[in-house]
Amino acid sequence: MPSNSPAIASIRDLNVHFKRRRRLAEPVRAVDGVDLDIFKGETLAIVGESGSGKTTLVRAIGHLVPITFGSVAFGGTDLENLKRAELRAFRRKVQYVFQDPFESFDRRQSIFQIVSQPLRVHNIGSTRAEIQSRVYEALEECGLEPAHEFAKLFPHQLSGGQRQRVSIASAIVLRPDLLIADEPVSMLDVSVRSEILSLFVRLRESRNMTLVFVTHDLSVAWEVADRIVVMYLGKIVEQGTAHQLIGNPANPYTHALVTAIPVPDPSQRGIDPAVKGDIADIKGIPSGCRFHPRCPYAIEKCSVAVPALAPIQAGHFSACIRNDELDLEPPHHM
Ligand SMILES: Nc1ncnc2c1ncn2[C@@H]1O[C@H](COP(=O)(O)OP(=O)(O)OP(=O)(O)O)[C@@H](O)[C@H]1O
Ligand code: SF4
Ligand SMILES: [Mg+2]
Repeated sequence: MPSNSPAIASIRDLNVHFKRRRRLAEPVRAVDGVDLDIFKGETLAIVGESGSGKTTLVRAIGHLVPITFGSVAFGGTDLENLKRAELRAFRRKVQYVFQDPFESFDRRQSIFQIVSQPLRVHNIGSTRAEIQSRVYEALEECGLEPAHEFAKLFPHQLSGGQRQRVSIASAIVLRPDLLIADEPVSMLDVSVRSEILSLFVRLRESRNMTLVFVTHDLSVAWEVADRIVVMYLGKIVEQGTAHQLIGNPANPYTHALVTAIPVPDPSQRGIDPAVKGDIADIKGIPSGCRFHPRCPYAIEKCSVAVPALAPIQAGHFSACIRNDELDLEPPHHM
């Protein structure tokens, strides 16, 4: 389905570098040469360990961080070329849900004020009745019913899951084309996570949106996504449909992540013992393939050659110089 749809966003050689405090120090290359198309109507998960650049990438998509070089285009228009008014209109079409539902609101505002604020900012709805109907509709769609009761409450009267539903309602109230959720369930109790995940899936469908879903957890990506992109130290290392990537990972890093997905049988559980160590500090990026210090399949050349994303099969890409010779066992529990 997704690959037949037009790209809603096209990202080309995107680089977002941050200056370091120490003068003359190398900048932090948080996003380092990313190429990616996001297709209309799909759910795309962006997966990676902490510090791999997921948040910076999705913030750059919505023009929330300055792009060092490269481009992000929507419907063929480069964001850099938008005039002020156009940028405002664009902002309405791309909405975010962030990780922390506790931090995002002003505690003194009622749920009605919180969810209606984006409408006011964008001058939508000329009468109170109109605004109210959009707010109630968004609350109901997010499972906060009866809406008129929830609208009167304040954030401290809600549970974590309900607060995240409020964040989602205030994102969808603007009827965005693209909803970007950055780790929206990682701070929630495990018991409410799958309800919130199914809410995203349902809303994507009913609101006919495109959804970009950031998570460090591949099993969450598997639950929600049509396609998955895996990042490692600012670069995409593998990209494919959820089935390709989880069922038949081609890149040694993805393979290690998939092998580490917990399975019901405890004898099969655990992190791939072949992959040692933590994600390298982004400030001291390894030469060649960035994963080489941890990769069980690394050969000498891996510390020199920078692998490009190369096709494995239709829609499936991996960045590894040994793509053609490695035949990684599909992880047994999938
Ligand atoms: N505003 C900033 N100034 C300087 N460095 C930054 C800034 N934002 C991010 N970074 C650095 O860029 C790198 C990527 O950060 P980013 O937050 O995008 O990663 P992430 O994959 O979202 O991680 P997490 O899973 O922890 O949220 C990190 O090394 C981070 O310290
Ligand atoms: S290029 Fe080398 S180090 Fe990198 S993933 Fe492939 S085998 Fe491992
Ligand atoms: Mg992040």
